[in-house]
Amino acid sequence: MTQEKLKELLQDMSLEEKVGQMIQLPADVLTGNGLVTGPTGTTQLTEDQIGMAGSVLGIKGAERLYELQKRQMEKQPHRIPMLFMLDVINGFETIFPIPLALGCTFSPELVKETCAIAAAEAAACGLHVTFSPMLDLVRDARWGRVMESPGEDPYLNSRMAEAMVEGYQGDLRRKDKVAACLKHFAGYGYPEGGRDYDNVELSERTFMEDYLPAYEAAVKKGCRLVMTSFNTLNRIPSSGNKWLLRKILRDKMGFQGVVISDYSAIEEMVFHGVAADAREAAKLGIEAGVDIDMVSNAYAGHLAELVRSGEVSEQLVDEAVLRILQLKNDLGLFEEPFRAVDSALAEKLLLREDFRQKARETAAASFVLLKNEGILPLKKTETIAWIGPFVENPELYGAWSFPEKPEETVTVRQGVEGKGLSHMTFAQGCYLMDPGCPTKYGRVINPCDEQADLWLREALEMAAASSRVVLCLGEHRDMSGEAGSRVSLGIPEGQMELLRKVRQVNPNIVTVLFCGRPLAVKEIAGLSRALLVAWMPGTEGGNAVADVLFGDRVPQGKLSMTFPRTLGQVPVYYNHLMTGRPNSPREIHLFKNGYMDEVTAPLYPFGYGLSYTEFSYSEVSLDRREMKAGETITASVTVTNTGDTDGVETVQLYIRDPAASVARPVRTLKGFRKVPLAAGESRKVSFSIEEPMLTFYDIDMNNTSEPGKFQVLIGGSSDTENGAEFVLV
Ligand code: BGC
Repeated sequence: MTQEKLKELLQDMSLEEKVGQMIQLPADVLTGNGLVTGPTGTTQLTEDQIGMAGSVLGIKGAERLYELQKRQMEKQPHRIPMLFMLDVINGFETIFPIPLALGCTFSPELVKETCAIAAAEAAACGLHVTFSPMLDLVRDARWGRVMESPGEDPYLNSRMAEAMVEGYQGDLRRKDKVAACLKHFAGYGYPEGGRDYDNVELSERTFMEDYLPAYEAAVKKGCRLVMTSFNTLNRIPSSGNKWLLRKILRDKMGFQGVVISDYSAIEEMVFHGVAADAREAAKLGIEAGVDIDMVSNAYAGHLAELVRSGEVSEQLVDEAVLRILQLKNDLGLFEEPFRAVDSALAEKLLLREDFRQKARETAAASFVLLKNEGILPLKKTETIAWIGPFVENPELYGAWSFPEKPEETVTVRQGVEGKGLSHMTFAQGCYLMDPGCPTKYGRVINPCDEQADLWLREALEMAAASSRVVLCLGEHRDMSGEAGSRVSLGIPEGQMELLRKVRQVNPNIVTVLFCGRPLAVKEIAGLSRALLVAWMPGTEGGNAVADVLFGDRVPQGKLSMTFPRTLGQVPVYYNHLMTGRPNSPREIHLFKNGYMDEVTAPLYPFGYGLSYTEFSYSEVSLDRREMKAGETITASVTVTNTGDTDGVETVQLYIRDPAASVARPVRTLKGFRKVPLAAGESRKVSFSIEEPMLTFYDIDMNNTSEPGKFQVLIGGSSDTENGAEFVLV
């Protein structure tokens, strides 16, 4: 449809019809069921309002969506097709590792491919929009939603943001693409105390410098929607924050697409205490620039009347509706309301073999090897006992995955059996969750202690009779994700007891951890000879674990979020400020920054991860020591694989600005390169350093660089000290 036609359509619509476009229904209103992640608003919708709603979230199924579109369009005075939206977070039916794990691949290329596959599967099943990428910077592992973010670093998250938007959206006219919706705008990743939905206080400088870049990168790539966040940012709820949504998002970042609230977030402004009732909340929302009210019904209940009473200008409604119609138009829905929905195609696409292979490759690339005392890779001739509640658990996907065929997930046992080896034994060992443990859906009751005793006895006998034990432990998928905040960073006590007891009969333990957040793993690492973090690896998880443990693929992931030594260190992240009393990170010195009972260094820092070989780095060489704006300095290192196994190293470039008009982080990531290196091979890796990489928000809040000395650090982790200096003149 041409622009004129779109505008004509808008002019022809009644106020009620226009408001309808701004309403998003939850699935259950139309189908009687669907995922519900919070309360809906106080307004009861009329049949007419339901008929005129512009979009719905949370419905799956090609045939169901086809029927729904047909039915709803008949009710629409102008036959405007609906938008179907869903949280396709890390895969649709072929499930990939959780986003935090995707961050650990340090491979935007791979991540882009996973998103393209997710888009193709989702589009064939009739979906138009995915509520992804989630780009909230995360620094507090207590928050359950860290699993949804690529991690703690603005630069890495920005590269992942671009990859995800490109993968999902590409050219939106293509039938195998869906529109991307970045979220949660903004600052949702730093809730006080790690408590979900809690308030966020961030200085404007920290917000702009650390939290905004990834959102900005997604907008620059053309991301079509933005979702507001639940939280207040410096005391103002995002869904009513004009500064955030108009000044920053639209004016500064140049966003032209659709803004949608998070689930019920408009009416939640009443609970935040900034609106007296739903009517006032609706007014705040539209004035701030929220185009679609996700399920709170505040717009449905009050917007038309607010316009009629002259309290809200109809112009605001028109602008919002035009953006929504534009999105529908760009998706081609006016010409083809059923767009890509195709049950036969979906049948062929879902879980296609090459998609599964990509899931296997990605999962293996996301695993992070934290410790290895010469025990990995396992020899295929060894007798190995595979023990733990994750050995046969098919729920190897994160909290946002709802595969229609969960039985298609490859368990660890199946992955090991797929190698066709003898000498393998398998045991459950213990329950996954402790008795009485809270989950999102009630409390776990482990009904039978006798069963637990039997499992333990069997596991210990197997462990004693084997040369190696692989313990598959971790967090249940419901222990992270939305509403998955925790006050401890351990695994359930029953699993810890299993580990301690197995250790008494066989010290040759490899622990594989399945989790949705960084955990405090000091004791686990101490009791294990090797520790591999497998996160929530998805459909091909079991195969990927077997591949990596037997050395058919090499571990290559690097942490995208710091692993603390203890819960008390949280929030802990590598790019912190220096303080006036800097401490040596691995020592305790009183009256210096830190604690009296623990060092400040985390157990495993951002960027850390081992391989089956070792890499050495030459000193950093710079092609010159002085730089003017507009010039480039080339920083190089030679990286050598010094072992006898091939490997892949992620070479990381950090920059430090030791003296500026405001305190600067101890270092910030500015580049990375994945380098495959055969055993014994050396390669020169170079990075170009340019003045824009040195900018920050100065004392007057100008985004600029300041002349002076800079340090360049290049290595295989954020704690590298391999550096050189140059001066910006
Ligand atoms: C979450 C969003 C999600 C939305 C729709 C909310 O509870 O915060 O991330 O996209 O629900 O499911």
